[in-house]
Amino acid sequence: MSENTMLKTNERGHLVVGGCDVVELAHKYGTPLYVYDEARIRARCREYIGEFTRRYPNVEIAYAGKAALTMGFARLMDQEGMGLDVASAGELYTALQAGFPPERIKMHGNYKSNQEYRMAFEAGVGRVVVDSLIELRQLSCWAKKLDAVADILIRVRPGIDTHTHELIQTGQVDSKFGVAIYGGEARQAIETAMELESIRLHGLHCHIGSQLLETDAFERAVDQMVHFIAEMHDELGFECEDLDVGGGLGIRYTEKDNPPSVAELAEAICPRLRERLAEHGLAEPRLILEPGRSIVGEAGVTIYTVGVVKEIPDLRTYIAVDGGLSDNPRPALYDAVYEAVVANRADEEPSQWVRVAGKHCETDTLIEDAYIATVEPGDLLAVFATGAYNHAMASNYNRFTRPAVVLCCDGNDELLVERETLADVVSHDVVPRHLAVPQTEECEVGE
Ligand SMILES: Cc1ncc(COP(=O)(O)O)c(C=O)c1O
Repeated sequence: MSENTMLKTNERGHLVVGGCDVVELAHKYGTPLYVYDEARIRARCREYIGEFTRRYPNVEIAYAGKAALTMGFARLMDQEGMGLDVASAGELYTALQAGFPPERIKMHGNYKSNQEYRMAFEAGVGRVVVDSLIELRQLSCWAKKLDAVADILIRVRPGIDTHTHELIQTGQVDSKFGVAIYGGEARQAIETAMELESIRLHGLHCHIGSQLLETDAFERAVDQMVHFIAEMHDELGFECEDLDVGGGLGIRYTEKDNPPSVAELAEAICPRLRERLAEHGLAEPRLILEPGRSIVGEAGVTIYTVGVVKEIPDLRTYIAVDGGLSDNPRPALYDAVYEAVVANRADEEPSQWVRVAGKHCETDTLIEDAYIATVEPGDLLAVFATGAYNHAMASNYNRFTRPAVVLCCDGNDELLVERETLADVVSHDVVPRHLAVPQTEECEVGE
């Protein structure tokens, strides 16, 4: 196995995250358990802010809350001076409840509901990222109704194909997101936005995809966007104050992944942006980035208890853990690949290939081929790099209770989310009267 920066052990041979012994965490909080290393998340935020501001001072790094958002995470991002990208009423509500400054929030979504428009206006979010012409008109109506002005970016589909799973490609021509440059839709959106009194158009947004392991797509996005901004400047007099190039930087899920560093990303984007703007004689806009996965992904580990070890002679060994599809749908959705270690014997050399299966009523493989130490029922398995799009995508499938989330720093552990209880699972169920358990009639018995 190549160097795994999350593989830290203590004198007992236990895996340590954020200075905490995960075996003790498992005893304290139960499993499955999401464990985050707080210092690692903070370091990543600082790395982004540092590397980008050094090369392009007018920059905002907005954490994409879809990767993992709880009120605690929103507080942490505020403390680190990050902006926040939210994509639903629930994410916006979480941020506001946590006291995140609304002016640093960007409200996304390809279909925003009336509740979401209303919440965005009432909170005074910094930018609404408009995804369609229909939305532009709806937003303008809402602004008029509330006697307000909407501060917006327009999400543009630059027509860039990326080398990533098709479900997380978002900037290509055939995509549900944004307005296309190709065919004039984006031009029309800008023209309309500039005409509408209740709309203040601040700039453009694009997000080309996720888990990108090369910088070339970002470079192409910068070229395309600046070219388009220049055209709109010349044709419509459009001044672009904000250029948001989205998120998408990949992380290391396995030893095969070799993502660019944040410094390499900044080096790919910033000088190129400057150059392209200068070529067109354009003023420098504020640059916005929206990283999600690359902020929290590698800082998270999921701890499971091994329940069953099943050997199919001459074929393979299955180990079943007490979670699966409901706490990590990514292998099923995206063929995502993970690495794992036996957490209570993390210093032991791996010696066998196993298939890690979940406990749902289908073939919910978590890891097809994991190379780990010998394992027995009762052992703990730690799956690495589960910090992004795991808790955020967790479900109650099979009426499982969603796991707790713990934040660890310098050997201290703090709950971010409590484990759901079985009572939580039925708490929103309603039994219609005609289906209610019949009450047995009490009959009076005479003397
Ligand atoms: C608009 C937008 N911004 C940012 C992100 C975050 O992407 P990532 O987690 O890959 O950095 C996404 C992810 O889907 C997105 O759709």
